[in-house]
Amino acid sequence: MKRIAVLTSGGDAPGMNACIRSVVKAGQFHGLEVFGIVDGFDGLIRGDLKRLRYEDVNNVIQQGGTFLGSARSEEFRSSEGRQKAAYYLSENLIDGLIVIGGDGSFKGAALLGEEHGVNVVGIPGTIDNDIIGTEYTLGYDTALTTVVEAVDRIRDTASSHNRIFFIEVMGRDAGALALDAAIASGAEDVLIPEEATDIDQVVRSLKESNKGKRSSIVIVCEGDDAGGAAEIVSKVKPLMEGYDLRYTVLGHIQRGGRPSPKDRIIATQWGDYAVELLTKGKTNMMVGLSNGQLIAKSIAGKLENKVIIDKKLELLHRMQTRFNC
Ligand code: F6P
Repeated sequence: MKRIAVLTSGGDAPGMNACIRSVVKAGQFHGLEVFGIVDGFDGLIRGDLKRLRYEDVNNVIQQGGTFLGSARSEEFRSSEGRQKAAYYLSENLIDGLIVIGGDGSFKGAALLGEEHGVNVVGIPGTIDNDIIGTEYTLGYDTALTTVVEAVDRIRDTASSHNRIFFIEVMGRDAGALALDAAIASGAEDVLIPEEATDIDQVVRSLKESNKGKRSSIVIVCEGDDAGGAAEIVSKVKPLMEGYDLRYTVLGHIQRGGRPSPKDRIIATQWGDYAVELLTKGKTNMMVGLSNGQLIAKSIAGKLENKVIIDKKLELLHRMQTRFNC
């Protein structure tokens, strides 16, 4: 192996820059030439590669976003798109590809491996923490900190005005961020896609938990089956006359910002490990964490994430019945 490339794909996540930096440094340490692909798989399809050296990754460890750019590539979903991507990899004599991204990006990477024999290693990078096969994804700690800080601020104003706030948190299909934010902020309730939402039940429990309080917070995962925060408030309002209900959508503020120390450290470890795997000829792999330990496994893993959500749900139910009354 002489030349490797790295790309960031899907929604950006804090820590992606730290991870690219680590790949570049580890690559040079192993005597490899490292290339960065601009704008994820879109850039690969148009052959947009640039050589990355130590000096290109100075002072990026602390920066949010991804300096390589990212995209959700429509073209890469087609076999023609993947054909073009494979062509540019071989044209540039790239022997190994590191993909930093979410589950969609991992699927794309796995297909490149299967269809074109490209040597790929995936690094989990998404604020959703929803990749099968790892208990952690890059950016999650930073995003959770951002969300909890925002909820604390809203709690201040909610208490001043005796209001109930529904706060929408990102997570198209996964409620991990919403659930952890709810636990960490002492929210009165949380609505996530993994559990069916019963509006009457939400109203009953809010009326109960709100007794003697000057504020209540309901964290709503954007992918909840009953809708986002705006829709849920419109359903709840007629059943809660006399209560002052408001909603806030936190939006993309959750994806930006300087990565936390935890995200920088994990990014550095994973970048280094991904390069090491390629140099050892271990491909079609992903790196991850299991019980806090660095792991590598096949990029198509088992359904382990469900277990984590279930354990947290147990805590949630205790929170609703004991801590919020
Ligand atoms: O990257 C994950 C994520 O932030 C999801 O939580 C959210 O549903 C989605 O991306 C939003 O994507 P976009 O920025 O493309 O609208």
